[in-house]
Amino acid sequence: MISFLLNDRITDTPLPPSTTLLDFIRYEADLRGTKIGCREGDCGACTVLIGTLNGNDVKYKSVTSCLTPLANISGKHVVTVEGLNHEGLNFVQRALVNNSGTQCGFCTPGFVTSLCAFAINSTEGSVPEDAVSSVDGNICRCTGYKSIERAAADILERLKLKDHAHPIRWLVENEFIPEYFLNVSGKLKSLSRNDIISGRVPAGGGTDLYVQKPDDAEHLGLMYLADVEDLRNITIRDGICSIGASVTMTELMDNAGLKNAIPGWHSFIKLIASTPVRNIATVAGNIANASPIGDITIMLLALDAVITLRDDSGTVRTLPLKDFYKGYKQLNKKVGEIITRVEFHLPPHNTFFNFEKVSKRKYLDIASVNSAICLHTDGDVIVSAHCSAGGVSPIPLYLKETSSSLTGKRVTSELVKHAFGILSDEISPISDARGSSGYKRLLARQLFFSHFITLFPEQIKMNELI
Ligand SMILES: Cc1cc2nc3c(=O)[nH]c(=O)nc-3n(C[C@H](O)[C@H](O)[C@H](O)COP(=O)(O)OP(=O)(O)OC[C@H]3O[C@@H](n4cnc5c(N)ncnc54)[C@H](O)[C@@H]3O)c2cc1C
Ligand code: FES
Ligand code: FES
Repeated sequence: MISFLLNDRITDTPLPPSTTLLDFIRYEADLRGTKIGCREGDCGACTVLIGTLNGNDVKYKSVTSCLTPLANISGKHVVTVEGLNHEGLNFVQRALVNNSGTQCGFCTPGFVTSLCAFAINSTEGSVPEDAVSSVDGNICRCTGYKSIERAAADILERLKLKDHAHPIRWLVENEFIPEYFLNVSGKLKSLSRNDIISGRVPAGGGTDLYVQKPDDAEHLGLMYLADVEDLRNITIRDGICSIGASVTMTELMDNAGLKNAIPGWHSFIKLIASTPVRNIATVAGNIANASPIGDITIMLLALDAVITLRDDSGTVRTLPLKDFYKGYKQLNKKVGEIITRVEFHLPPHNTFFNFEKVSKRKYLDIASVNSAICLHTDGDVIVSAHCSAGGVSPIPLYLKETSSSLTGKRVTSELVKHAFGILSDEISPISDARGSSGYKRLLARQLFFSHFITLFPEQIKMNELI
């Protein structure tokens, strides 16, 4: 039995834990405000809020309910658009109406929930781009978005008055959320929360599993790891960053230690998926789905990360991430083994990290080619180099020979051109929906050059490379 709070009602369900939250909401709870569009995390019509108890507070985030198994909402607060309604329209709904931000209305519940998540999480430092980013996972085919942007601006304007000492009370008084939100924390404390770890196939956020095998989920025998406490933290100690397997992309993106150590970190991760997908997608899911263009994986390869695996008898082993991939979607991993952590040395002083990604559209799209680089320097000499590239091989590729060719050398345009020659021999792109092999070779070159032009603007000029 899985128990959770659905809007203002404590709910128990005997349904299999693999059932999607979307199906539960529409077909069991009969709440039809949450819509079904793509069932692949792309359209945002199914967006709901999930609230998780954190001490005496509840932390809310927007998620795609079509990719969320019921197992991952045990003991939490699920808020659908019906649970955001007041007697009349709430502030967010009024802002959309006043700005003509809704036409056919199909996408509107998704926009409302995403903008309510923004209202709940907004800080004194929130800027208009943050309001617009909160709907980066919502697609509208009617409005052309400008009216929705104006609604987001109105919402932010009102949120400037928010009482950050008592945010929930202020949001209730200002008709963003209904009154029952004031009692959610107490209700969640009274819920029994079962850890549901059943089968042998690991599942994190479900954002890959439920796209690849939506109909098989019930029979796969999933082992739900998203809420396992010791897989959920990031620690930084003695210069080593250790990331639990079930840390989400949002948590990774917002981690203060990582943002401090790696300039650009937040903007690199923001290129991945959308807010509601990043809110549930895990680091281990990105590594283990073995996509040749997994963005986090490509960054971790350049950070020379090591992963820890644990089998069902408790035996633990570690291995460099670059040795994890044996062939297309083939892993150095036994059945029943799970990734528990990933670790790397935080880039020390004089270390330069960069990530580049080209996709058909800038946001909410997977890469045609992506690449990362991490160079530790002494003066203008590269002491150690780690380069990676995705979309140019059957696996996320650690560029071993390219990295060696840079080590011990001074940063010059000649060196970069020479290293690119070696990179060309290491990659083997194929033509597919994301581009021809020739196009991907060209991208690999541009991204490699771009690393150096970005990191060493004084030494490396574009006209010397091309
Ligand atoms: C709309 C959309 C956009 C996306 N955009 C991007 C993008 O821009 N860039 C990108 O890189 N990816 C993208 N993805 C892919 C996906 O979101 C990521 O790869 C994500 O990190 C997968 O994590 P998850 O926790 O959801 O994985 P899940 O779906 O839960 O699992 C994926 C795989 O990992 C395995 N697994 C999960 N946890 C563990 C563990 N602890 N140990 C061992 N194996 C484990 C599962 O068995 C499964 O094989 C996108 C997905 C969607 C739906
Ligand atoms: S139905 Fe499209 S994102 Fe869920
Ligand atoms: S109003 Fe019709 S899809 Fe957005």
